[in-house]
Amino acid sequence: MPGYAVIGAQWGDEGKGKVIDLLASSFDVVARYQGGPNAGHTVKVAGKIFRLHHVPSGILNPRAVCVIGNGVVLDPESFQSEIKELQGSGIDLTGRLFVSSRAHVILPEHVRRDAAAEDGGGRIGTTRRGVGPCYEAKAGRRGIRVEDLLDPERLRARLAVALGEPPTRSVMEPLQSFGAFLRPQVADTTDLLNRRLDEGARVMFEGAQGTLLDVDHGTYPFVTSSNAFAGGICNGLGVGPTRVDGVLGVMKAYSTRVGEGPLPTELTDATGDRLRERGREFGTTTGRPRRCGWFDAVIAGYSARLNHLDAVALTLLDVLDTFETIRVCTSYRHRGKVLAGLPPASWELGEVEPVYTDVPGWMQETSGARRFEELPENTRRFVATLEAAVGREVALVSVGAERERAILRPGSKLDQWLPDLAPRLH
Ligand code: IMP
Repeated sequence: MPGYAVIGAQWGDEGKGKVIDLLASSFDVVARYQGGPNAGHTVKVAGKIFRLHHVPSGILNPRAVCVIGNGVVLDPESFQSEIKELQGSGIDLTGRLFVSSRAHVILPEHVRRDAAAEDGGGRIGTTRRGVGPCYEAKAGRRGIRVEDLLDPERLRARLAVALGEPPTRSVMEPLQSFGAFLRPQVADTTDLLNRRLDEGARVMFEGAQGTLLDVDHGTYPFVTSSNAFAGGICNGLGVGPTRVDGVLGVMKAYSTRVGEGPLPTELTDATGDRLRERGREFGTTTGRPRRCGWFDAVIAGYSARLNHLDAVALTLLDVLDTFETIRVCTSYRHRGKVLAGLPPASWELGEVEPVYTDVPGWMQETSGARRFEELPENTRRFVATLEAAVGREVALVSVGAERERAILRPGSKLDQWLPDLAPRLH
């Protein structure tokens, strides 16, 4: 069983970076399949905080080789500064990072169009990084791929198509220099991954954003422009569906979202502010305060079924340590009726009222726990309530930003998949 996916099961910012970093040393390869500089994965190692946008969170673990797949979009400036920052922190990338020749490149024009769309009508609350217009250009067959950067004549011709006029030197030069920067890393990553999988290598498929931000299955139109759910792995990396042997969904113990769009459990009161402060819920990429609310088990259950999750990694549980009562949304009321699941039209999610199950808080610190039995009884009750409402086992619990602040459930799917994980954690 060599290919496992780790994906976001809510609206992004679930703490995937921490989980992926923790699991990465059980893998030979970690591969990103979608998104770009809109993503912000925060990983804290040895007291240092790393904020990754394009590079897989596996890079901080010296064992894993990292792949940026064809489904990812790259911003030249942001990518180069990310690489330089990693190198400046002493992280050796030689032979460890490969970028697909088919990945698309974000042009300054895409960034301008993203901002103009946000400032015009129909605001989505995007990260303004040009991600949406870049994916539009890709689907419209006007995109610039990494391979185009490596040949000036090809680049000039493709830019003329992309921009509708011959490119000026000020457009060409930064892209050519980005091509030169990237060249040592450019590879046929589809071939690389399939070969490694055939050889029995363990590969992690790393998601960015979250399931509810998926362009098809999320809260459209308030979504990102790529397939963030597990189905995006195949087209974003060029691997067949039978390569995905298991899917771990990362969920935080409450809900957050950045940008516009429905968030049924949103709290706009002091409790929401407390969640934001305790969880340091400010965007990694844009610094925007995140909207916060209680855990939504209807959304989480949808995500579990859609991605066919095998198990859940529950993160930021310690954020709830000081709440006397903790609420879990277990169904919605819509137009006077309690619904069995989601409302029929996706936009009606903005009209539902959450129905809550209340769980008593534990009012004590959980960040020191390393085994599930060490957690307070009420914490375990909360986890059991989530498991029952979502219909999946919680295999891993994270109780702090540092790599070691994690609890693996013995005998869980994750423990079975990665037998070397438990010894590393204890
Ligand atoms: P875009 O991906 O910049 O086009 O933004 C579209 C929507 O996705 C906006 O609501 C963003 O706030 C959201 N989004 C994009 N990337 C992330 C992320 O990594 N975490 C959380 N939200 C994100």
